[in-house]
Amino acid sequence: MSKKFVDVPEHIAIVMDGNGRWANARGLTRVEGHRAGEAALMDVIEGAIKAGVKYLTVFAFSTENWKRSPDEVKFLMNYNREVLRRRRDQLNGWNVKIRWAGRRPKLWPTVIDELLTAEKLTSKNTGLTFTMCVNYGSRIEILDAVNQIVEDSNSGKLKGKVTEKTIQKYLLTKNLPDVDLFIRSSGEQRISNFLLWQSAYAEFVFLDVLWPDFNREHLWGAIEQYSKRNRRFGGAVDKPKKAKRSG
Ligand code: IPE
Ligand code: IPE
Ligand code: MG
Repeated sequence: MSKKFVDVPEHIAIVMDGNGRWANARGLTRVEGHRAGEAALMDVIEGAIKAGVKYLTVFAFSTENWKRSPDEVKFLMNYNREVLRRRRDQLNGWNVKIRWAGRRPKLWPTVIDELLTAEKLTSKNTGLTFTMCVNYGSRIEILDAVNQIVEDSNSGKLKGKVTEKTIQKYLLTKNLPDVDLFIRSSGEQRISNFLLWQSAYAEFVFLDVLWPDFNREHLWGAIEQYSKRNRRFGGAVDKPKKAKRSG
């Protein structure tokens, strides 16, 4: 059964946050929170498909997350790999196209292999494009793009003036449209270096739910909020109210 909305965002980005707090509040270690996040993610993907969303992009591991304890980093690397291996056939069955957005340096080669295998397996699918941002950070993404543009200009591979389109084409998300709806769970109200360029005109919804407790109903609630927003992109419409005259 599909879910109908007045206005469905084409591209939704989610910062899946709050796993550690969810676990610690239950007397568990942080990694148990990450484990509990898998079911939330699968439910949200199914919810996005039912709502008719075309692009769903999630933040799984940031370029800043290497600062965490070696044990947590190791767990997250193994875990990303396991989730992909465990879920890729199910996602393939849902006609989902899996994509990876992230940087190669530091990222475990076995994780990259798993991401590329999932990409290949689902490359012909025509349903939801699901992008996993693993070892992703937006500032370094823009910096990488600028350096590549300079290199390609110097070598003559790139000709003419650099435009917004040029930059967009050099980003890790080059095949994705701009973000329409940006959601963050856990109550934190910040971007944390996620999709800075791509979210220039996104609508933001911050939800006070820790990621392991997040489900499709929360996603649909955020879409509901989105459909009530008035996106102007800098434009304006003049609609003066009729002044009341006495007498
Ligand atoms: C988000 O949950 C998952 C990752 C960053 C990998 P956190 O691990 O950031 O959980 P909190 O924010 O500390 O509760
Ligand atoms: C952002 O969450 C990264 C991911 C969800 C993967 P963080 O928990 O790392 O962000 P901060 O540290 O609260 O800004
Ligand atoms: Mg966090």
